[in-house]
Amino acid sequence: MDRFEIIGGHKLEGRFSVQGAKNSCLPIIAATMLVQGETVLHNCPDLKDTEVAVSILNSLGCYTERQGNDIYINSDVNLENTIPEELMSKMRSSIMFLGPLLSRNKCVRIYYPGGCKLGPRPINYHIDAFRALGAETYEEENSIFFKNFSAPPREITLEYPSVGVTENIMTFLAVGQGDEIRIKNPAREPEILDLQNFLNSAGAKIKGAGNEEIIIKPVEKLHNTEYNIMPDRIATLTYLTSVAMCGGDVIIDNAVPEHIRKPIKLLEKAGAEIRDSYGIRLISHRGIKALGKIETGPYPDFPTDAQACFSALMSTSEGETEICENVFSSRFSHCDELKKMGADIDFRDGNAVVKGVKRLKGAEVYASDLRCGAALIAAGLSAEGRTKVYGTEFIDRGYENIEKVLRKIGADIKRLS
Ligand code: EPZ
Repeated sequence: MDRFEIIGGHKLEGRFSVQGAKNSCLPIIAATMLVQGETVLHNCPDLKDTEVAVSILNSLGCYTERQGNDIYINSDVNLENTIPEELMSKMRSSIMFLGPLLSRNKCVRIYYPGGCKLGPRPINYHIDAFRALGAETYEEENSIFFKNFSAPPREITLEYPSVGVTENIMTFLAVGQGDEIRIKNPAREPEILDLQNFLNSAGAKIKGAGNEEIIIKPVEKLHNTEYNIMPDRIATLTYLTSVAMCGGDVIIDNAVPEHIRKPIKLLEKAGAEIRDSYGIRLISHRGIKALGKIETGPYPDFPTDAQACFSALMSTSEGETEICENVFSSRFSHCDELKKMGADIDFRDGNAVVKGVKRLKGAEVYASDLRCGAALIAAGLSAEGRTKVYGTEFIDRGYENIEKVLRKIGADIKRLS
């Protein structure tokens, strides 16, 4: 079985540039359907999820070509109305093709999306939002049909600041007629601002991303554009927590401190030294302090996608930390696997309580989602002895060449099958 094999205990030292952001690249790939002419995307990470996103464009009739981390896309064709079920089932974020496709075709059939097991992955907020924007919906057994021919209202308030729903609404409303539309209670993640910047680079008129209200003035069409995807803030945090766990001194040249202010503060509170005048440099001498409590939430709160690697970090801290996962109902699959490595983790009122141990021990562990897998790799890097992390297919969904990046800064990690 495919696995990563790690011999723990090596300090991590050196510098590198982090991959482009998966969670920015995916909605932007979907949004290229709105562009008349060619789009060139730079710094697109080569991942299983980006591969699926490009396959969805191809299945709709778009031309795409990847050259390294650049993707060339032309959607100047009559697009299909349905995304194939087997592609929708491969990736939860395939729902993000709904907005641009409905904007282009006025009617779309989508199958319920798949993705990692993070508890139920409903799409009710998406359905509610498109109904509120005037679309008719017809739910069938495993698919749902959207039809939209009416003018949207001047304002929509999201019941929850959903990242995917915010992105779907932005791509749905960017091209069209009529007056300004306000999105209230939107998600404020940095990836939302990256999507706004991409759309505006093609002639859209969107403002307010990152704040409590996004204002969209629909435009008649979007022209061809070239765009650089932002660096991946979650991959950055995964690598930084690995250095904090192993000890060492690493610079991530293109990391953006503003994207991860809250987690950086927690890394400093845990005892790491952070310098962010140029990229992000983390210096860690052995010894991690417990943080007492970590609570995930919508941006600018602590990101749920970094919860697993921070749980691993806390597993070798001096003291106890309560981990409250407020975004996904079950995102603790890494805890059982960390316990196989000697971590002391219990559950209290639905939260994980991590009591730090001196050092983890290598073991055979299984990733069940991409962030769980990355956390297990981080744990193996600092553990005593050999760790085998199975489930490489999950990790490859979100991390480009993770073993090469880690080897470059001194880790003993191999990909074996
Ligand atoms: C995006 O997922 C990210 N994925 C996730 O990253 C990230 O964890 C999440 O935002 C939160 O930051 C991409 O950007 C591709 P949500 P998304 O809609 O849009 C519930 C990773 O590890 N919900 O903000 O799906 C949902 O179940 C991935 O890179 C509904 O109930 O997140 C969750 O509990 C994992 N109904 C909460 O809202 C809906 O219709 C937040 O979801 C939609 C969501």
